[in-house]
Amino acid sequence: MVERGHWWPVALPGDVGTAPLPLTLLEEPLVLWRDATGAVQAFADRCPHRGARLSLGRVADGQLQCPYHGWRFDGQGQCRQIPALPGFAPPASHAAQRYAVMEAHGLLWVCLGQPQAAPPALPVLPARRLVHGPFDVATSAPRVVENFLDTAHFAFVHAGWLGEPQQAQVPHHALTHTDDGRPVVPDYPAWQPRATAGAQQGAWVRYHYEVLSPYAALLHKQPEGDAPSDAYILWACPRTPESCRVWFVQHTTDTATADDELRRFQATIFAQDQPVLESQTPKRLPLQGGEVMCAADRLSAAYRRYLRTAGITFGVC
Ligand code: FES
Ligand code: CO
Repeated sequence: MVERGHWWPVALPGDVGTAPLPLTLLEEPLVLWRDATGAVQAFADRCPHRGARLSLGRVADGQLQCPYHGWRFDGQGQCRQIPALPGFAPPASHAAQRYAVMEAHGLLWVCLGQPQAAPPALPVLPARRLVHGPFDVATSAPRVVENFLDTAHFAFVHAGWLGEPQQAQVPHHALTHTDDGRPVVPDYPAWQPRATAGAQQGAWVRYHYEVLSPYAALLHKQPEGDAPSDAYILWACPRTPESCRVWFVQHTTDTATADDELRRFQATIFAQDQPVLESQTPKRLPLQGGEVMCAADRLSAAYRRYLRTAGITFGVC
Protein backbone atom coordinates (compact mmCIF):
# COMPACT_ATOMS: atom_id res chain seq x y z
CA MET A 1 0.00 0.00 0.00
CA VAL A 2 1.66 3.25 -1.16
CA GLU A 3 0.02 5.12 1.70
CA ARG A 4 2.46 3.50 4.15
CA GLY A 5 5.29 5.39 2.45
CA HIS A 6 3.59 8.78 2.94
CA TRP A 7 3.87 11.10 5.93
CA TRP A 8 0.47 11.79 7.54
CA PRO A 9 -0.52 14.56 9.96
CA VAL A 10 -1.73 12.95 13.18
CA ALA A 11 -1.82 15.58 15.95
CA LEU A 12 -0.63 18.98 17.10
CA PRO A 13 2.58 19.00 19.14
CA GLY A 14 0.64 20.49 22.06
CA ASP A 15 -1.71 17.49 22.06
CA VAL A 16 1.07 15.26 23.38
CA GLY A 17 1.43 16.09 27.06
CA THR A 18 2.48 13.89 29.94
CA ALA A 19 -0.02 11.11 29.23
CA PRO A 20 0.19 8.70 26.27
CA LEU A 21 -2.07 9.79 23.40
CA PRO A 22 -3.90 7.08 21.45
CA LEU A 23 -4.85 7.59 17.81
CA THR A 24 -5.49 5.68 14.61
CA LEU A 25 -3.66 6.03 11.30
CA LEU A 26 -4.44 3.85 8.27
CA GLU A 27 -6.34 1.50 10.62
CA GLU A 28 -3.23 1.07 12.81
CA PRO A 29 -3.72 1.93 16.49
CA LEU A 30 -0.82 4.16 17.54
CA VAL A 31 0.30 5.80 20.74
CA LEU A 32 2.18 9.10 20.82
CA TRP A 33 4.19 10.04 23.91
CA ARG A 34 7.16 12.18 24.98
CA ASP A 35 10.41 10.43 25.87
CA ALA A 36 13.12 11.49 28.32
CA THR A 37 14.47 14.07 25.86
CA GLY A 38 11.03 15.62 25.32
CA ALA A 39 10.87 14.22 21.78
CA VAL A 40 7.54 12.82 20.58
CA GLN A 41 7.61 9.09 19.79
CA ALA A 42 5.05 7.07 17.83
CA PHE A 43 4.67 3.39 18.73
CA ALA A 44 2.19 0.73 17.70
CA ASP A 45 -0.42 0.79 20.46
CA ARG A 46 0.24 -2.83 21.30
CA CYS A 47 2.65 -4.24 23.86
CA PRO A 48 4.98 -6.89 22.39
CA HIS A 49 4.46 -8.99 25.56
CA ARG A 50 0.73 -9.79 25.59
CA GLY A 51 -0.74 -7.23 23.25
CA ALA A 52 -2.21 -4.80 25.79
CA ARG A 53 -2.75 -1.21 24.72
CA LEU A 54 0.30 0.81 25.68
CA SER A 55 -1.82 3.99 25.61
CA LEU A 56 -3.62 2.71 28.75
CA GLY A 57 -0.29 2.86 30.56
CA ARG A 58 1.71 5.89 31.61
CA VAL A 59 4.93 7.72 30.99
CA ALA A 60 7.30 7.21 33.93
CA ASP A 61 10.83 8.60 34.09
CA GLY A 62 10.81 9.28 30.36
CA GLN A 63 9.78 5.71 29.52
CA LEU A 64 6.45 4.31 28.36
CA GLN A 65 5.12 1.77 30.82
CA CYS A 66 2.63 -0.91 29.80
CA PRO A 67 -0.50 -1.05 32.01
CA TYR A 68 -0.54 -4.88 32.17
CA HIS A 69 2.79 -6.19 33.56
CA GLY A 70 4.62 -2.89 33.78
CA TRP A 71 7.25 -3.41 31.11
CA ARG A 72 9.01 -0.14 30.32
CA PHE A 73 10.13 1.06 26.90
CA ASP A 74 12.53 3.87 26.07
CA GLY A 75 12.20 6.36 23.22
CA GLN A 76 13.86 3.95 20.79
CA GLY A 77 11.29 1.26 21.63
CA GLN A 78 13.83 -0.81 23.54
CA CYS A 79 12.43 -2.65 26.57
CA ARG A 80 14.38 -1.37 29.59
CA GLN A 81 12.72 -3.07 32.49
CA ILE A 82 10.55 -6.10 33.27
CA PRO A 83 9.37 -5.63 36.87
CA ALA A 84 8.70 -9.37 37.32
CA LEU A 85 12.40 -10.10 36.56
CA PRO A 86 14.38 -7.39 38.35
CA GLY A 87 17.89 -8.51 37.31
CA PHE A 88 17.02 -9.31 33.70
CA ALA A 89 18.32 -7.19 30.79
CA PRO A 90 15.62 -7.46 28.10
CA PRO A 91 17.00 -8.34 24.64
CA ALA A 92 16.24 -6.46 21.42
CA SER A 93 13.45 -8.95 20.61
CA HIS A 94 11.39 -7.45 23.46
CA ALA A 95 11.20 -4.04 21.76
CA ALA A 96 7.98 -2.15 20.99
CA GLN A 97 7.14 -1.35 17.35
CA ARG A 98 8.29 2.20 16.67
CA TYR A 99 7.38 4.44 13.70
CA ALA A 100 9.00 7.50 12.18
CA VAL A 101 7.60 10.78 13.48
CA MET A 102 8.45 14.38 12.60
CA GLU A 103 7.13 17.90 13.00
CA ALA A 104 6.25 20.02 9.96
CA HIS A 105 3.90 22.95 9.32
CA GLY A 106 3.02 23.04 13.02
CA LEU A 107 1.71 19.45 13.04
CA LEU A 108 3.14 16.05 13.98
CA TRP A 109 3.50 13.61 11.08
CA VAL A 110 3.90 9.83 11.15
CA CYS A 111 5.05 7.44 8.43
CA LEU A 112 4.24 3.75 8.94
CA GLY A 113 6.73 2.49 6.35
CA GLN A 114 9.77 3.72 4.48
CA PRO A 115 9.20 7.45 3.83
CA GLN A 116 9.09 8.03 0.06
CA ALA A 117 8.97 11.84 0.21
CA ALA A 118 8.81 14.72 2.67
CA PRO A 119 5.46 16.20 3.78
CA PRO A 120 4.08 18.60 1.15
CA ALA A 121 5.87 21.93 0.76
CA LEU A 122 3.94 25.16 1.28
CA PRO A 123 4.34 28.53 -0.42
CA VAL A 124 5.07 31.62 1.64
CA LEU A 125 1.83 32.49 3.46
CA PRO A 126 0.64 35.35 5.68
CA ALA A 127 2.21 35.18 9.13
CA ARG A 128 -0.95 35.18 11.24
CA ARG A 129 -1.83 31.53 11.62
CA LEU A 130 -4.70 29.70 13.30
CA VAL A 131 -5.36 25.99 13.49
CA HIS A 132 -9.02 24.97 13.28
CA GLY A 133 -9.89 21.50 14.51
CA PRO A 134 -9.34 18.69 14.71
CA PHE A 135 -12.69 17.71 13.22
CA ASP A 136 -13.45 13.99 13.25
CA VAL A 137 -15.47 13.16 10.19
CA ALA A 138 -17.35 9.95 9.48
CA THR A 139 -16.31 9.70 5.87
CA SER A 140 -13.14 9.03 3.90
CA ALA A 141 -10.38 11.63 3.72
CA PRO A 142 -10.69 11.90 -0.10
CA ARG A 143 -14.39 12.79 0.23
CA VAL A 144 -13.40 15.68 2.52
CA VAL A 145 -10.66 16.88 0.17
CA GLU A 146 -12.97 16.72 -2.84
CA ASN A 147 -15.56 18.77 -0.93
CA PHE A 148 -12.88 21.36 -0.14
CA LEU A 149 -12.18 21.66 -3.88
CA ASP A 150 -15.86 21.79 -4.88
CA THR A 151 -17.28 25.26 -5.52
CA ALA A 152 -20.69 24.22 -6.88
CA HIS A 153 -21.93 23.42 -3.36
CA PHE A 154 -21.39 26.95 -2.02
CA ALA A 155 -24.77 28.22 -3.21
CA PHE A 156 -26.61 25.47 -1.33
CA VAL A 157 -24.61 24.20 1.62
CA HIS A 158 -23.23 27.65 2.45
CA ALA A 159 -26.16 29.82 1.29
CA GLY A 160 -25.86 33.31 2.76
CA TRP A 161 -22.18 32.74 3.54
CA LEU A 162 -20.05 31.48 0.63
CA GLY A 163 -22.78 31.57 -1.99
CA GLU A 164 -26.47 32.03 -2.72
CA PRO A 165 -28.91 29.97 -4.78
CA GLN A 166 -29.59 32.86 -7.22
CA GLN A 167 -25.89 32.86 -8.15
CA ALA A 168 -25.24 29.12 -8.38
CA GLN A 169 -23.56 29.13 -11.77
CA VAL A 170 -19.98 27.87 -11.89
CA PRO A 171 -18.14 30.34 -14.14
CA HIS A 172 -15.62 29.28 -16.72
CA HIS A 173 -12.22 28.84 -15.08
CA ALA A 174 -8.85 27.43 -16.04
CA LEU A 175 -7.55 24.14 -14.67
CA THR A 176 -3.83 23.39 -14.80
CA HIS A 177 -1.38 20.99 -13.16
CA THR A 178 1.94 21.40 -11.38
CA ASP A 179 5.03 19.76 -12.90
CA ASP A 180 4.46 16.79 -10.60
CA GLY A 181 0.84 16.40 -11.71
CA ARG A 182 -1.10 18.07 -8.88
CA PRO A 183 -4.29 19.84 -10.03
CA VAL A 184 -4.44 23.63 -9.73
CA VAL A 185 -7.23 26.13 -10.35
CA PRO A 186 -5.27 29.37 -10.52
CA ASP A 187 -8.15 31.83 -10.50
CA TYR A 188 -11.80 31.16 -9.73
CA PRO A 189 -14.19 34.11 -9.27
CA ALA A 190 -17.05 33.67 -6.79
CA TRP A 191 -19.69 36.06 -5.47
CA GLN A 192 -19.88 35.58 -1.72
CA PRO A 193 -22.43 37.13 0.66
CA ARG A 194 -20.05 36.68 3.61
CA ALA A 195 -16.69 35.39 2.45
CA THR A 196 -14.73 35.88 5.66
CA ALA A 197 -15.29 36.32 9.38
CA GLY A 198 -14.67 40.07 9.10
CA ALA A 199 -16.79 40.66 5.98
CA GLN A 200 -19.45 43.39 6.35
CA GLN A 201 -21.02 42.86 2.93
CA GLY A 202 -20.95 40.62 -0.13
CA ALA A 203 -17.89 40.65 -2.38
CA TRP A 204 -16.33 39.06 -5.42
CA VAL A 205 -13.57 36.76 -4.25
CA ARG A 206 -10.80 35.19 -6.31
CA TYR A 207 -10.08 31.61 -5.27
CA HIS A 208 -6.84 29.81 -5.96
CA TYR A 209 -6.88 26.05 -5.38
CA GLU A 210 -3.96 23.68 -5.31
CA VAL A 211 -3.93 19.99 -4.42
CA LEU A 212 -0.86 19.53 -2.21
CA SER A 213 -0.82 15.77 -1.76
CA PRO A 214 -3.38 12.96 -1.97
CA TYR A 215 -5.14 14.13 1.21
CA ALA A 216 -4.21 17.79 1.45
CA ALA A 217 -5.13 20.97 -0.42
CA LEU A 218 -4.54 24.70 -0.29
CA LEU A 219 -7.09 27.42 -0.94
CA HIS A 220 -6.15 31.06 -1.24
CA LYS A 221 -9.03 33.59 -1.06
CA GLN A 222 -8.42 37.11 -2.25
CA PRO A 223 -11.44 39.43 -2.02
CA GLU A 224 -11.55 42.28 -4.52
CA GLY A 225 -10.34 45.62 -3.23
CA ASP A 226 -8.10 45.81 -0.22
CA ALA A 227 -9.99 43.41 2.07
CA PRO A 228 -7.78 40.89 3.91
CA SER A 229 -6.83 37.66 2.15
CA ASP A 230 -6.95 34.19 3.67
CA ALA A 231 -5.18 30.96 2.88
CA TYR A 232 -6.59 27.69 4.19
CA ILE A 233 -4.73 24.42 4.17
CA LEU A 234 -6.78 21.29 4.65
CA TRP A 235 -4.78 18.48 6.21
CA ALA A 236 -6.59 15.15 6.46
CA CYS A 237 -5.43 12.16 8.45
CA PRO A 238 -6.89 8.88 7.17
CA ARG A 239 -7.92 6.96 10.30
CA THR A 240 -9.87 4.22 8.57
CA PRO A 241 -11.02 3.92 4.93
CA GLU A 242 -14.29 5.58 5.99
CA SER A 243 -13.27 8.04 8.70
CA CYS A 244 -10.72 10.78 9.05
CA ARG A 245 -9.49 13.60 11.25
CA VAL A 246 -8.98 16.99 9.62
CA TRP A 247 -7.41 20.32 10.47
CA PHE A 248 -7.87 23.62 8.64
CA VAL A 249 -4.83 25.82 9.05
CA GLN A 250 -5.66 29.43 8.26
CA HIS A 251 -3.09 32.05 7.34
CA THR A 252 -4.59 35.50 7.15
CA THR A 253 -3.64 39.12 6.55
CA ASP A 254 -6.66 40.06 8.70
CA THR A 255 -5.25 41.72 11.81
CA ALA A 256 -8.54 43.20 13.02
CA THR A 257 -10.74 40.15 13.64
CA ALA A 258 -10.33 38.32 16.97
CA ASP A 259 -9.20 34.67 17.04
CA ASP A 260 -12.56 33.61 18.50
CA GLU A 261 -14.46 35.16 15.63
CA LEU A 262 -12.20 33.54 13.02
CA ARG A 263 -12.71 30.19 14.77
CA ARG A 264 -16.49 30.64 14.94
CA PHE A 265 -16.60 31.41 11.23
CA GLN A 266 -14.64 28.30 10.23
CA ALA A 267 -16.60 26.12 12.66
CA THR A 268 -19.86 27.44 11.17
CA ILE A 269 -18.73 26.71 7.61
CA PHE A 270 -17.58 23.19 8.42
CA ALA A 271 -20.70 22.48 10.48
CA GLN A 272 -22.62 23.20 7.26
CA ASP A 273 -20.41 20.79 5.29
CA GLN A 274 -20.17 17.93 7.75
CA PRO A 275 -23.72 16.45 7.71
CA VAL A 276 -23.78 16.48 3.91
CA LEU A 277 -20.31 14.94 3.72
CA GLU A 278 -21.27 12.21 6.17
CA SER A 279 -24.45 11.50 4.21
CA GLN A 280 -22.59 10.66 1.00
CA THR A 281 -22.50 7.03 -0.06
CA PRO A 282 -20.25 5.27 -0.63
CA LYS A 283 -18.04 6.86 1.97
CA ARG A 284 -15.01 5.86 -0.09
CA LEU A 285 -14.39 8.13 -3.07
CA PRO A 286 -15.27 6.32 -6.32
CA LEU A 287 -12.30 6.39 -8.71
CA GLN A 288 -13.67 3.91 -11.24
CA GLY A 289 -16.88 5.64 -12.30
CA GLY A 290 -20.17 5.09 -10.53
CA GLU A 291 -20.92 8.80 -10.00
CA VAL A 292 -22.05 11.28 -12.63
CA MET A 293 -19.65 14.07 -13.55
CA CYS A 294 -20.72 17.34 -15.15
CA ALA A 295 -18.66 20.17 -16.63
CA ALA A 296 -18.80 22.04 -13.30
CA ASP A 297 -16.89 19.16 -11.67
CA ARG A 298 -13.62 19.49 -13.58
CA LEU A 299 -11.49 19.97 -10.50
CA SER A 300 -13.12 16.98 -8.78
CA ALA A 301 -12.46 14.88 -11.86
CA ALA A 302 -8.83 16.06 -11.96
CA TYR A 303 -8.42 15.22 -8.26
CA ARG A 304 -9.75 11.70 -8.85
CA ARG A 305 -7.38 11.21 -11.79
CA TYR A 306 -4.51 12.42 -9.63
CA LEU A 307 -5.39 9.88 -6.89
CA ARG A 308 -5.51 7.11 -9.48
CA THR A 309 -2.11 8.10 -10.86
CA ALA A 310 -0.66 8.29 -7.34
CA GLY A 311 -1.81 4.70 -6.74
CA ILE A 312 -3.99 5.64 -3.75
CA THR A 313 -6.11 2.70 -2.57
CA PHE A 314 -7.10 3.76 0.97
CA GLY A 315 -10.44 5.56 1.28
CA VAL A 316 -11.30 5.08 -2.38
CA CYS A 317 -13.23 2.49 -4.32
FE1 FES B 1 2.54 -5.30 28.31
FE2 FES B 1 2.61 -7.63 29.58
S1 FES B 1 1.24 -7.00 28.04
S2 FES B 1 3.77 -5.87 29.95
CO1 CO C 1 -18.24 23.52 1.99
